[in-house]
Amino acid sequence: MKAIAVFPGKPGSVHLADLPAPSLDEVPDGCGVLVKVLRVGVDGTDKEIDAAEYGAAPDGFDYLVLGHEGFGRVLAVGPNVTGLAPGDYVVATVRRPGTSIYDRIGMQDMTTDDAYFERGISRRHGFLTERYVEDAQFVVRVPAALKRVGVLLEPTTVVEKGIRQAFEVQRRLRIWQPGKAAVMGAGTVGLLAAMALRLRGLDVTVFARKKAPTLNSELVEALGARYVSTSEVPVAEGTARLGPFDLVFEATGSSSVVFDSMEALAKNGVLVLSSVTGGDRRLEVPADRINLGFVLGNKAMVGTVNAAREDFEAGARDLGLASLEWPGWLERLLTHPVKGLESWRELFDTLTGATGAIKVFCEVAPLDEPPGSTAGGAAGAAVGEAREALEVPA
Ligand code: BGC
Ligand code: ZN
Repeated sequence: MKAIAVFPGKPGSVHLADLPAPSLDEVPDGCGVLVKVLRVGVDGTDKEIDAAEYGAAPDGFDYLVLGHEGFGRVLAVGPNVTGLAPGDYVVATVRRPGTSIYDRIGMQDMTTDDAYFERGISRRHGFLTERYVEDAQFVVRVPAALKRVGVLLEPTTVVEKGIRQAFEVQRRLRIWQPGKAAVMGAGTVGLLAAMALRLRGLDVTVFARKKAPTLNSELVEALGARYVSTSEVPVAEGTARLGPFDLVFEATGSSSVVFDSMEALAKNGVLVLSSVTGGDRRLEVPADRINLGFVLGNKAMVGTVNAAREDFEAGARDLGLASLEWPGWLERLLTHPVKGLESWRELFDTLTGATGAIKVFCEVAPLDEPPGSTAGGAAGAAVGEAREALEVPA
């Protein structure tokens, strides 16, 4: 099977690899699900892994198959799988259990292990291949009506978990009713955060560098949110005019914005940090003032990474609501499709170089082919193999 992989630790090593085909009985107890990959999104994490800033190969391999934003269709299920059937559209979660107490109760997104397992990122192969097998407990069904935007589910889960964490933290306030929210950044995660917060009825301001109009600023305004360019209006000035904010969601990828965000927060507010910043940046900040604001204002700040199964389920529901509320909006995020795993070079060139890209993704296989069709070559062959594996007559 074709797969897009890197040699972790070796910068610029992305290449087309040959991965052995998976089999359902890799998963014990008849709980396996065989999935045909349809689309896989790529993001800054993939960029960092190819730059060798991040990422680890699974045991026994010198390469790591990339891709953690998967979307696919079930080809076959093991005898003990319930709630999933061939033909279902699905997304698999990213992180797999390690050893901490959180992992042992199914909360691996909260692991305290230093060496953790994430498909396509750390010690587990990802989804940029033709087929994968996964334990049903990590596979989430997506309504067929969402198949055109299903590849956006994984990035949406990062937002869902962040907002869920914010509301968990704010239970300290018993009657917290957030009115104003700010989102820092208008990339994929920032846009999806604005979407999720608008769906919850908040007044949303998105701060981003570029001057409007851009596709991103138009998308923000289409949600009934406000777009503020920080090259025209600094965050402090925007906050004086439009804030302060009960909830701030930081998703710029830049650590310096964190301190502006801390000052943009209202009394009793909560700041969610989601940017993975691999660098070693230093900064001078008004530390006394920020600290005083936090102390006298009872403010809270929470970091968030990865997501739990419940966030995937919430994400699927929010994608459904967003398609009803703002028809066509999610599709507009899918700016840069790249066809076929063999176009790995174009996929990565687009990811690193395309201007104005929101979501870059690989179209591994067509969305609409019936999973049982023997027509389309590779797909037909996959179904044939699945049938053989299950001993189902054609
Ligand atoms: C992914 C998360 C992952 C994180 C850190 C992000 O790009 O969306 O699922 O946990 O990277 O590895
Ligand atoms: Zn990601």
